Amino acid sequence: MKVIKEISAVQDISDYFKCIGKKTGLVPTMGFLHEGHASLIIKAKEENDIVFVSIFVNPTQFGKNEDFGKYPRDFERDYHICEKAGADYIFYPDIKEMYGENSLTSVTVSGITERLEGEIRPGHFTGVATVVLKLLNAVKPDNLYLGQKDAQQNAVVGKMISDLNVDVNLKICATMREANGLAMSSRNTYLTEEQRTKASVLYFLLEKAKKMILEENISDVSEIKEIISDTFKQMTPEFELQYFDIAENKMLTPLSDLESFEGEILISLAAKVGSTRLIDNVILRKIRDRK
Ligand code: PAF
Repeated sequence: MKVIKEISAVQDISDYFKCIGKKTGLVPTMGFLHEGHASLIIKAKEENDIVFVSIFVNPTQFGKNEDFGKYPRDFERDYHICEKAGADYIFYPDIKEMYGENSLTSVTVSGITERLEGEIRPGHFTGVATVVLKLLNAVKPDNLYLGQKDAQQNAVVGKMISDLNVDVNLKICATMREANGLAMSSRNTYLTEEQRTKASVLYFLLEKAKKMILEENISDVSEIKEIISDTFKQMTPEFELQYFDIAENKMLTPLSDLESFEGEILISLAAKVGSTRLIDNVILRKIRDRK
């Protein structure tokens, strides 16, 4: 496995593999990799000849008071995880290489970025869409791999790819979870043992909402939201539920009545556990009851 730091070098390598008819995949990351990232690399290796993992803690997607400075970094550890999972190249640029001295261009996807994470983290998705496009222009992969945990990010990147005619296939892979259901995230490292145990409530609530829709046939979204919010307060009064949302899964349009809705539903939430923000989601497919 090789580490490449320059954009021009990774472009040359990518051109070479294209020229000799090899398929390439990119797993973009901000490092401090966990089993979720490893599963993306393994999937990418199954579907491509050559796998690139990018490791870049992207400053433009962090707000002023967010954790850019303290975001966990450990290149040695990441290197071994990438190697074990079967990556061929790590693209590891520094900030100057990615943004140069005077970068003036950014990519903003409107609409879907205005609610949920976008509302709480203004500017975040412009940072994400811009860096993902830059990574795609550097690595030029056939396939791009992202995890389901960042559902809104996936919707934004998917829209950016289709709106800007980017020549790549987006592959969304399942969220990897701890044994207690907690979605794997580099930010879990901020949690104490006790918080980590209690944070399993987030997945429990998503599954509870899913059951209310699919098994109990509750179609009034405000009723579901109220039950979830009450249960959250009861079970983890020390945490803060920032949002709990039920939307259709493409444009993330909020739903209020599920009675006649047919298609994919995204149930998502964000919570503050001490000073750490966690997000999670589940997707369900609803078929209309045609009695
Ligand atoms: O999901 C992430 O780790 C980041 O948002 C990404 C896609 C690597 C862009 O910096």
